[in-house]
Amino acid sequence: MDITLNPVGSLSAEQARGALAAATAAPSLHNSQPWRFRCTASTFELHADLSRAMPVADPDHRELLLACGAALLNLTVAIRAQGVYPDVRLLPSPDRPWLLATVRPQGTRRATPVERRLDDAIRRRRTNRRPFLDGVITEPVRTELRRAAEAERSWLAPVSPTGLARLRDLVSRAHDIQQQDPAFRAEWVWWTAREDDAHDGVPRRSAGPLPEPQDRWVLRDFSAGQARPRVNGKDFEADPLIAVVGSFHDLPLARLQAGQAMQRVLLTATLNGLSASFLSQVVEVPETRKQLRELIGGGLWPQAVLRIGYGSPVPRTPRRPIQDVVEVSAEPNPASPVG
Ligand SMILES: Cc1cc2nc3c(=O)[nH]c(=O)nc-3n(C[C@H](O)[C@H](O)[C@H](O)COP(=O)(O)O)c2cc1C
Repeated sequence: MDITLNPVGSLSAEQARGALAAATAAPSLHNSQPWRFRCTASTFELHADLSRAMPVADPDHRELLLACGAALLNLTVAIRAQGVYPDVRLLPSPDRPWLLATVRPQGTRRATPVERRLDDAIRRRRTNRRPFLDGVITEPVRTELRRAAEAERSWLAPVSPTGLARLRDLVSRAHDIQQQDPAFRAEWVWWTAREDDAHDGVPRRSAGPLPEPQDRWVLRDFSAGQARPRVNGKDFEADPLIAVVGSFHDLPLARLQAGQAMQRVLLTATLNGLSASFLSQVVEVPETRKQLRELIGGGLWPQAVLRIGYGSPVPRTPRRPIQDVVEVSAEPNPASPVG
C-alpha cells in the first residue's frame, strides 16, 4: 500500500515524495539500498539500515556509509532543484551514530541551472558495466569531475597511466582473496543474479557481459555465470579513466562525505554524457586498500574506485518502493536536535 506523506519544512507533500524518490535512486553496494528515512513536519532524517549491511565484504560499514552519503547528496540536490534551501547536519547526534544526517528544507532560494541539470542527472545515472568507447575525456571535463569531489570536502585522484598496471594487479589480487573466502562467495550469491522482478540486489540484466579472465579487474561477474559472452571485437577500453574518490581521514564523517563526493562526481559525469562503473574489490580487501593508498600518493584514504568513460545505454536497476524505506511522523521529532 502506498504511503501518505505530509509536507516537510518548505516542501509540499508531493515535493517531499519527489525528493525521497531522488534519494533512493542513489547507487549502493550490490543495490542493497541500506537506508531508511523518517519524515517529521520539518525534517528528513537519514538512518543507516544495518539489516542491509554486508558483514563480509564491508565489515565496518564503510561502503554502507558511502551509499548513504550518495542518497543524501541526491536528497539535497532534489530539494535545491525545487528552489528550497536544505539545511544539512551530518551525524547530528553522538548518542545515535546510525542517524547519519538531518535535512531541513527551509525558505526559498532560486535553483541555478547547474542544480537543475544535476537533479535531472539523478534519474539518468546508472552503473554501466559494459565496455566503453575509446573516446578521450577532455581536460575541462576532468577538472569538472575533480571540482565535484572537492565541493564535498573530498578528493578525486586519477590513476596515472603508469599506475594503471599496478592497479590491475591489486584488483586481481583482491578478487582472488575474496573468491577464496566461502563466506564472501555466499554473501555475493545472495545479492547478485537476482530475477528481474526483485526490488533490490543486482539483476542479471544489469550484470554486463560475462567477464573473460583478462576483464576481471574491470568487471565482477554479477550474473552467476549466466551473462552473455562479450561480443567479439567489443573489448573493454584499452585506456580507461580510473579515478579514486579519497578522503583526508577515515572516520564515519569522512566516509559519509566521500559518498556525497562520489555521487556528485557520478552526476557530473552523467551530465557530461559519461558513464561509470566501480572497482570495489581493491578497497574492500584491507591489504590491497593499503597498497592503493600508497599508489595514489599516501595522503588520502581510498574510498571508491570509479571507471569513467563513454558508454552505450544500459537498463535501470530496480529500487524498493518509497513506503518500504520511509516512516512518517506527524509530529516534529523531539529527539532530533533540529526538530
Ligand atoms: C560503495 C559502492 C560500491 C560498489 N561496488 C561495485 C563494484 O565493485 N562493481 C560493480 O559493478 N558495481 C558496484 N557498485 C554499483 C552498484 O552495484 C549499483 O549502484 C547498484 O546495483 C544500483 O545500480 P545503479 O547504480 O545502476 O542505480 C557499487 C556501488 C557503491 C555505492
